Amino acid sequence: MIEIEDLRKIYRMGNVEVRALDGVTLTIAKGEFLGIMGASGSGKTTLLHMLGLLDIPTSGKITIDGLDTSTLSDHDKTMFRLYKLGYVFQDYALVPDLTVMENVSLPAMLRQDRTDEQTRKDTIEILQKIGLCDRQDHLPRELSGGQQQRVSIARSIVNKPDILFADEPCANLDTENSRIVLDLFREINEEMHQTIVMVSHEEWHKDYFHRIVQLRDGKVIKDGVKGQVG
Ligand SMILES: Nc1ncnc2c1ncn2[C@@H]1O[C@H](COP(=O)(O)OP(=O)(O)O)[C@@H](O)[C@H]1O
Ligand SMILES: [Mg+2]
Repeated sequence: MIEIEDLRKIYRMGNVEVRALDGVTLTIAKGEFLGIMGASGSGKTTLLHMLGLLDIPTSGKITIDGLDTSTLSDHDKTMFRLYKLGYVFQDYALVPDLTVMENVSLPAMLRQDRTDEQTRKDTIEILQKIGLCDRQDHLPRELSGGQQQRVSIARSIVNKPDILFADEPCANLDTENSRIVLDLFREINEEMHQTIVMVSHEEWHKDYFHRIVQLRDGKVIKDGVKGQVG
């Protein structure tokens, strides 16, 4: 469970102050597939970065499974991210010189508690899941955008994280590939019971989310389960 209390993030640039998050309070249940929606500039990415421990809030509190994340040292935060969290970005963020197999194995190889054999086994299992086993020796640039995003999803779940964060993962994909990617997230959520927090601004993605939180100007303006929000 993630508990967010009065979260604020203010960016200061010279004399200009941007309140990217302006008092967000929210609880995200274990196993929930949550959609964060809102216009461009409403604070979606900022919220995801705070929850994913990629950036530090100006004030407020984020508690994950009872742990106040502000008490973590930089090293502990890195470990927490590696063992507990997974990330999918809009631009895939794959390492261009590594093969599909190597990209997917990367987070598992960074862990001290996995043997190479275990990592290989996990990686192959996940490549089967995303249907790209036949592409394991290819480089990212040899794949389509949709395939690259599936590889990045595979990489995000290789360590079986408790929580998966995805920031507009379909932004660069056509409708057909967006569906494939969203179906994959749904499958992961249902089979692995992972909590998924996904940012989107496409109306039709709402069908996939259990619950939708709508942001405007860094504030939650709507929070409701599917079918009950406009
Ligand atoms: N690193 C930054 N420095 C200054 N302002 C930022 C930074 N990141 C985001 N912002 C500002 O914060 C607001 C929210 O941005 P963001 O979270 O990226 O919104 P969204 O993802 O909903 O489009 C915007 O006004 C944006 O310009
Ligand atoms: Mg954004």
